[in-house]
Amino acid sequence: MADTDSRGGRVYFSPDILAWTAKRHAPHDAALQRAFDAPSRSGMPAIQLGESESKLVTLLLQLRGAKKVVEVGTLAGYSALRLARGLSPDGKVWTIEFDARHAEVARLAIEEAGEASRIEVLTGRGAEVLPSLERHGPFDAVFIDADKESYDVYGRWAARHLVKGGLLLGDNAFLFGELLDDTPRAQVMRRFHEEAAQAFDTVCIPTPDGLLLGVKR
Ligand SMILES: C[S@@+](CC[C@H](N)C(=O)[O-])C[C@H]1O[C@@H](n2cnc3c(N)ncnc32)[C@H](O)[C@@H]1O
Repeated sequence: MADTDSRGGRVYFSPDILAWTAKRHAPHDAALQRAFDAPSRSGMPAIQLGESESKLVTLLLQLRGAKKVVEVGTLAGYSALRLARGLSPDGKVWTIEFDARHAEVARLAIEEAGEASRIEVLTGRGAEVLPSLERHGPFDAVFIDADKESYDVYGRWAARHLVKGGLLLGDNAFLFGELLDDTPRAQVMRRFHEEAAQAFDTVCIPTPDGLLLGVKR
């Protein structure tokens, strides 16, 4: 059931409700908790996915039976671990991180989680590293969570290199509430939405900052 308010954008969750439900449905084991805490511990911005959104990504990959996944925007490796948890045992995540310090912290968290053989951290700008991954494709999912100014470029790359039925996932699809602003990066994000809707069956899931989900046609 929904009502006029919730269909119009009102949300019924509070920080307490988010925490209560995340604890029940998306709990952390020791490895996930270490990766989740790593940004604050290492003086990095704590801009990783929320617990529930990251578990949603795990479940979407499980539903898809995903084997090969690309992520743009690693930070400390928290979402990469959540992605890896959704893979079949012989699956692999390639995750791209521009900041060398972030990449180093992520490699350590991934090593500590025992996932170093299934998650490869590549250092560099997404747009420059993606072409080097094409020989491993086509991919089952592409998760975009990096510089918002390049989402349209990443979305086009995903459309070219995903299998039919493969998943496009784009976090911050509401652009921190700025999606409809008249700024260059809002124009890029709107283009990302519009082009995704052409090549994929799409929905923008109303997570706190929007998660665009596309299934490639
Ligand atoms: C929001 S954080 C990623 C959070 C991560 N996905 C998680 O949930 O654990 C964005 C990351 O993208 C990185 N980044 C920014 N611009 C980038 C680019 N052009 N290519 C690759 N990574 C980039 C930032 O350094 C930052 O670590």
